[in-house]
Amino acid sequence: MLFTEYKIKDLFLKNRIVMPPMCMYSSDRTGIVQPFHLVHYGTRAQGGAGLIIIEATAVEARGRISGNDLGIWNDDQIPGLKSIVDIVHGFGAKIAIQLAHAGRKATVAQGISSWNSQFSDEYPIPIKMEESHIRQVVLAFSEAARRAQLIGFDAVEIHGAHGYLINQFISPLVNHREDSYGCKNGIGIKFLQEIIKSVKNNFKGPIGLRISAEEYSNNGLHPHNFIPMLAEILKDHSTSIDFINVSSGGVIEEGFPSKVLPGYQIDFAHEIKKGINIPILAGGMLSDPDMINKILNGKKADLIWLGRELLRNPYWPLHTSEYFKIEQKKPPQYKRAEPYFRNN
Ligand SMILES: Cc1cc2nc3c(=O)[nH]c(=O)nc-3n(C[C@H](O)[C@H](O)[C@H](O)COP(=O)(O)O)c2cc1C
Repeated sequence: MLFTEYKIKDLFLKNRIVMPPMCMYSSDRTGIVQPFHLVHYGTRAQGGAGLIIIEATAVEARGRISGNDLGIWNDDQIPGLKSIVDIVHGFGAKIAIQLAHAGRKATVAQGISSWNSQFSDEYPIPIKMEESHIRQVVLAFSEAARRAQLIGFDAVEIHGAHGYLINQFISPLVNHREDSYGCKNGIGIKFLQEIIKSVKNNFKGPIGLRISAEEYSNNGLHPHNFIPMLAEILKDHSTSIDFINVSSGGVIEEGFPSKVLPGYQIDFAHEIKKGINIPILAGGMLSDPDMINKILNGKKADLIWLGRELLRNPYWPLHTSEYFKIEQKKPPQYKRAEPYFRNN
């Protein structure tokens, strides 16, 4: 299953292995792509991943997690991102970009958020967003989507997880607003709807959303809370999206699982998959090929991401294809090393 082809909308993927977004904090104040990024993403594409989602990339300078985040908030950032896209395409992989805003988890400036409470003592108290701030951020996402289209990304992922800005509107643990941007039936949807609309206006390929489906708090959200919310988003043409990337945690300081084992998030993905009919990306501490195949065969997810495993071993997809004796295109330059692939 791992090496079967898959299509999201019109986007053809050669296998079901995804590199999830992972911040490398390797740019500088400009947010522009550096040589490191070209090698880093190029190597994972050469290693055989079907889809690479590049790290949380800031749509506004004030929305950076760190001063070294990648950015897509101005046109000077376009050429570097285009170089990554060209390199990844050259190795036969597809590439998406995760559009992000850190909100109250920004460290570069005073954060903005749905509510004026800080994430932890280490962060400044954020500004509670007025309508004018909301308009600015929605516009920033739409401009980022325009750039993503121009650059040639195959897909876009909206970062709605891990307690960053969009998640700060979705979660009742953070969003205590009483206006229309507050929580309705225990979950905040309007800000997300406006972001999706603005991205859809400018980006024509598949659009996905990453969520923290489990907040690890009694008063927080659980996978079943997302199903009616996602159904509402999917039923409206102006907000319907093409895939969900199921993650968890990070919404509040103590919102992490007490124990993290391989596959710890798969049940969350499975629950979402049973509730809505849309491609589901899942993962978390995965590296065992047999376990991954079981997840796919059990229809618990459609695509599997491997984060830290691909940091450790960019050639995991090619090694694993050898393990299953499935032919995947290898770099022809490395042909003389074939036994190396075969023996691993
Ligand atoms: C170094 C690092 C940076 C990360 N940055 C992001 C990010 O930019 N956006 C995001 O949604 N998740 C981010 N994550 C979470 C990963 O996408 C993934 O969900 C997590 O590492 C769990 O998967 P794994 O056990 O396969 O590594 C990051 C994780 C790591 C290790």
